[in-house]
Amino acid sequence: MKAKPFLRWAGSKRKLVPYLSTYWDNSFERYIEPFMGSAVLYYELDPNKAILSDINKELIQTFTEIKNNPKEVHKTLSALNPDKENYYAVRATDSESLNSVERAARFIYLNRFCFNGLYRTNQKGKFNVPFAPSGTGNIPTVEHLELASKKLANTELLAEDFESVLIRHVKAGDFVYLDPPYATNSKRVFREYGPGSFCVDDLDRLQKILSTIDQRGAHFVLSYGSCPEALDTFSNWKPETVSVQRNISGFVKGRRKSEELVFTNII
Ligand SMILES: C[S@@+](CC[C@H](N)C(=O)[O-])C[C@H]1O[C@@H](n2cnc3c(N)ncnc32)[C@H](O)[C@@H]1O
Repeated sequence: MKAKPFLRWAGSKRKLVPYLSTYWDNSFERYIEPFMGSAVLYYELDPNKAILSDINKELIQTFTEIKNNPKEVHKTLSALNPDKENYYAVRATDSESLNSVERAARFIYLNRFCFNGLYRTNQKGKFNVPFAPSGTGNIPTVEHLELASKKLANTELLAEDFESVLIRHVKAGDFVYLDPPYATNSKRVFREYGPGSFCVDDLDRLQKILSTIDQRGAHFVLSYGSCPEALDTFSNWKPETVSVQRNISGFVKGRRKSEELVFTNII
């Protein structure tokens, strides 16, 4: 059985996966995803060798714990009551006071029961997404976490900015999927995934790294919400426009079609 993602992640490209998968074939030697989030494309493609990375340290710590101790994380997770009162008690716990298994269980619990799979912190870096009253789904089963863990055995996990990961690691034969936060001047949300998170000023760094990937003989696929800044910055790479159904606000009336741009050096 194929492993599946175990987190809900705002901005995950679940709807785009069938399209993105068409760029992959098994001749690539390694899969690299430097903005990994819940890593939906990685689980779909099931590569033999991979590097997954994200600037969110708690996310990487959680994946590391699932890789090493899925049963213990599941045991701790199942002991947490999925009700509103307990959600706010767990959210108020200082993650630094917990051991690594408890910290991972807390992360998955908050992710499963928070509003819309968002990861947002206050200025002190504390997770502050409210409890979602319905439709959040259950916690993953132990079998689900064990499969996700088995898949991670061939995968290196890193908590770093995208640029440093790619400069240090990319080589010929790699397939790099880049799914940065959608930053555009016309959108109010600023650094929505926490401190140090990608913003419009980072587009030039991203463009430079695409050229580095290309020059090293590796391949990339970049997905980005349709906006003038992306069309302008990545004009070296011909974009494909893909239309996807998006659940913008978590409510039915917030669902609408959005246009994603896909840039690649794969011919
Ligand atoms: C749109 S989400 C990626 C979703 C992912 N494709 C999935 O399958 O769930 C963007 C991710 O980029 C991460 N991120 C933001 N700024 C970053 C940076 N400078 N370097 C690396 N990761 C960053 C965020 O923490 C977030 O998880």
